[in-house]
Amino acid sequence: MSQTPSATASGQFTIGGGITVNRLGFGAMRITGKGIWGDPDDGDMARATLRRVPELGIDFIDTADSYGPDVSEDLIREVLHPYKDMLIATKGGLTRHGPNLWAPLGRPEYLRQCVLMSLRRLGVEQIGLWQLHRIDPKVPRDEQFGAIAAMQAEGLIRHVGLSEVGVADIKAAQKHFKVATVQNEYNLVTRKSEAVLDFCTAEGIGFIPWYPLAAGKLARPGSVLTEIATRLGATPSQVALAWVLKRSPVMLPIPGTGSLAHLEENVAAASIGLSDADVQALDQQGKTAG
Ligand SMILES: NC(=O)c1ccc[n+]([C@@H]2O[C@H](COP(=O)([O-])OP(=O)(O)OC[C@H]3O[C@@H](n4cnc5c(N)ncnc54)[C@H](OP(=O)(O)O)[C@@H]3O)[C@@H](O)[C@H]2O)c1
Repeated sequence: MSQTPSATASGQFTIGGGITVNRLGFGAMRITGKGIWGDPDDGDMARATLRRVPELGIDFIDTADSYGPDVSEDLIREVLHPYKDMLIATKGGLTRHGPNLWAPLGRPEYLRQCVLMSLRRLGVEQIGLWQLHRIDPKVPRDEQFGAIAAMQAEGLIRHVGLSEVGVADIKAAQKHFKVATVQNEYNLVTRKSEAVLDFCTAEGIGFIPWYPLAAGKLARPGSVLTEIATRLGATPSQVALAWVLKRSPVMLPIPGTGSLAHLEENVAAASIGLSDADVQALDQQGKTAG
């Protein structure tokens, strides 16, 4: 009989020097409707998936006020409040004006509204990790960072993260607050954030790769990913996750799913040991496929 997989096998990371989590987390964007809009098609499955998250050793969930909007945070509260020994990280700073439509809004008063509303929806007095979903190009970034620093000083936010940023943005933000995490798109075949990842690794900043499972291109028969997955008795998605985990000790992948079976499969990836040769082969294959 196979053992229950556990996210503890992914190792641990201390976010902002203060909150220690298992490195493999859960992305809660896929527990909403199509276009990340409205309720999920199968609410019972979304709730069952969330209930299973802590049972599998996951103690780090990534969500955002804009997922639904509100739906993801509401479901997390309904199923998991009071979040014993769990970090519920959320994001703000994006408005929603329809399915699949997202627009940054970084005016200080709106960022404050985002934080206050997430506190209410999640039912907490402080958000353990609040991330600026996007820097709004229409508002000076220092104004946005200043507003966030003020909310941190007020105690509404414990740690601050950024999303889809470059090294220069991180350095500019570090003048206002300690940057605890950076969340950029990153996976085996999407490597545009290598410089940011290297910077985060050097600075001890958690790097949260979104869309970590973009394994589609590599899952075709005969690719290095399929060959290694078959040899290890794993799925291509699991090998793609094992690779990002191995890429850096600050890597905190948050694969997203609204399916129990996929959740279990993804957590089991934490126990896959890739040899250095496998890592190198995947690295090369990913770079050329991307
Ligand atoms: N900061 C940002 O701008 C940003 C942007 C996008 C996402 N995110 C965050 O990052 C998280 C992850 O990103 P993501 O959800 O876009 O990408 P992902 O985790 O790479 O992939 C999720 C997709 O893969 C499917 N999937 C999950 N596990 C699978 C498995 N084992 N085998 C086959 N398919 C599987 C899911 O469908 P099923 O539901 O059917 O399993 C879903 O369609 C999100 O939940 C969200 O928290 C952040």
